[in-house]
Amino acid sequence: MTLPATLARNLALPLIAAPMTGVSGPDLVVAACRAGVIGSFPTHNARTVEDLDRWLRHVNAETGGAAPFAPNLVVHRTNDRLAADVDCLVRHGVELVITSVGSPAPVLGPLRDAGCLVFADVATMRHVDRALDAGADGLVLLTAGAGGQTGAANPLAFVRAVREVFDGPVVVAGGVSDGAALLAARVLGADLCYMGTAFIATEESLADDAYRHALVGAGLDDVVQTSVPSGLPANFLRSWWESQPESRTGQAAPAGGFAHSAALAQRGVWAAGHSVAGVHGVGSVAELVETISKQYDLARSALLESRR
Ligand SMILES: Cc1cc2nc3c(=O)[nH]c(=O)nc-3n(C[C@H](O)[C@H](O)[C@H](O)COP(=O)(O)O)c2cc1C
Repeated sequence: MTLPATLARNLALPLIAAPMTGVSGPDLVVAACRAGVIGSFPTHNARTVEDLDRWLRHVNAETGGAAPFAPNLVVHRTNDRLAADVDCLVRHGVELVITSVGSPAPVLGPLRDAGCLVFADVATMRHVDRALDAGADGLVLLTAGAGGQTGAANPLAFVRAVREVFDGPVVVAGGVSDGAALLAARVLGADLCYMGTAFIATEESLADDAYRHALVGAGLDDVVQTSVPSGLPANFLRSWWESQPESRTGQAAPAGGFAHSAALAQRGVWAAGHSVAGVHGVGSVAELVETISKQYDLARSALLESRR
């Protein structure tokens, strides 16, 4: 792994429970870290900066001796809480921040000065250049089929293209439905993967039961991509999307593209990625991580066997 030691500590699997609007809260983060994977949440899931302050105090207190956690910051210019959230993260001594929807440049200075690593999410090689020029410590590659906001690049080609220009930490986001897929991403050259959709169907997520069970009943073909809800291409459960009036009018994406307020309005949507194909039940985070761990070990043994 090219992962810095601070991030690799207490990791049972090379995995991040992905940040998800309306889904990832302190319970999911604490459970993920205790199970040995990096927990994450978008700071805007805390409704106010005071709530964020409380969340961070709680998560820091509950995850001593566990895996690290990584708040996610939407760095788009329409996020009017950005500076206040950065201050709050710095005050709590956060070790890793993941930026999304834009260049990490505006937040790199204060976070790096505070000793915090910054990973930037990217969907194209142009984004990669921009993030590396700004000085990002790591990259989260948003690939085709990811839940919620998605990329279009094929993960096989994207990881290899990035490895030609960057030897630091790389995370694959999208399509990782089980331990075998996680191992495949490691073989490809990634250090870590995101799994989002799989963690929605856990008892510790903020999702409601109807959403969790809809994921269990859905398969790969039940995911639909549209830009309408947030202004950016994103993947949703078809059953949810077809129940929305916009799906019938075929309304275009909002003028001006992404707006943070539109992303916040996404709290009740049923986003899901192609990885929904691997969701077969609702259980605890610890059970999910144990299952992925067994699948990972089995896949690794099978790979070694097949090479003899
Ligand atoms: C319900 C939902 C909400 C999401 N919200 C965010 C978010 O607030 N910030 C972010 O960077 N990514 C967000 N994502 C994307 C995930 O972090 C991650 O890239 C994605 O879940 C990976 O694909 P997978 O779901 O197939 O594992 C969201 C995804 C889902 C499914």
